Amino acid sequence: MKMNKIIWLCPLLMTALAAWVFTLLGFTIWAAVLMALLLVCPAIILYGVITVTLHPRSILPETLHTRGMPLDILAPVYDWYCPKIGLGQTFRQETLRHAELKAGEYVLDVGCGTGALTRLAAKAVGQGEKAIGIDPSAKMIAIALRNANAEGSRVEFKLAVIEDIPFEANTFDCVLSSLMLHHLPPDLKVKGLSEVYRVLKPGGRLVLIDMDRPSNPLWWLLLWPLLLWSFTKDQLIGRLGEIIHGGGFSKVEKVGVWGGFLGFWKAIKNKE
Ligand SMILES: C[S@@+](CC[C@H](N)C(=O)[O-])C[C@H]1O[C@@H](n2cnc3c(N)ncnc32)[C@H](O)[C@@H]1O
Repeated sequence: MKMNKIIWLCPLLMTALAAWVFTLLGFTIWAAVLMALLLVCPAIILYGVITVTLHPRSILPETLHTRGMPLDILAPVYDWYCPKIGLGQTFRQETLRHAELKAGEYVLDVGCGTGALTRLAAKAVGQGEKAIGIDPSAKMIAIALRNANAEGSRVEFKLAVIEDIPFEANTFDCVLSSLMLHHLPPDLKVKGLSEVYRVLKPGGRLVLIDMDRPSNPLWWLLLWPLLLWSFTKDQLIGRLGEIIHGGGFSKVEKVGVWGGFLGFWKAIKNKE
């Protein structure tokens, strides 16, 4: 079995072990599984937060320097893993539904990862214009290019960071930001969103999906360790709208939710 598969089995084994210990202590099986999940999930999240905070953020020399968190480490398993946690095609289609892309539009996907959403966006805008994905992770961009070639997609990918978007002002009709904002420290979120504002055409739109205030107490039980991390805290306590306003957008609206703690937001650049 490959190493990355073994790594992904660890949380399952830890949960099973903890559940077994709870049954030995006399709890019913369902109570034991629930308690094991409540114990293991925050422990894994805390471990992740501590390791990414204390260790170098990337493993590849080509990866661009950013105070954000490029995901070289997850890149090899990312396409396998996303659908398993409810972030498959239906989720991507829902994101695109909010984007309301039309044929001939020019789209940018910031923090595009392996490019699943960017490729769908390219299909939506058709041959008239194009979709471009940017990401600082060399590994993510390599996989995104490989996926696009395999699909014969005309999408483009570029190594770049949201805090310094390598395009002129007023270029894009729509910017997509999917699950990337929580990879940035607070000041970089504002800087990145102001860059998004700059590259949007007047009247252009940002469609953003990211960690938001959890909608039920069970999510709080699992996610509370993220309150200890500056990258995620403000979003979890419900300040995502304010953060987007901070980038310069005046029209900002929450348009949907996904999975209990992800929010879809839409922001429009003023027509000057
Ligand atoms: C969770 S992944 C999301 C990927 C993709 N958008 C999706 O929806 O599956 C977050 C991505 O943000 C990228 N990222 C981290 N810091 C960034 C920065 N400063 N600028 C742009 N992207 C960044 C990471 O490399 C990673 O690919």
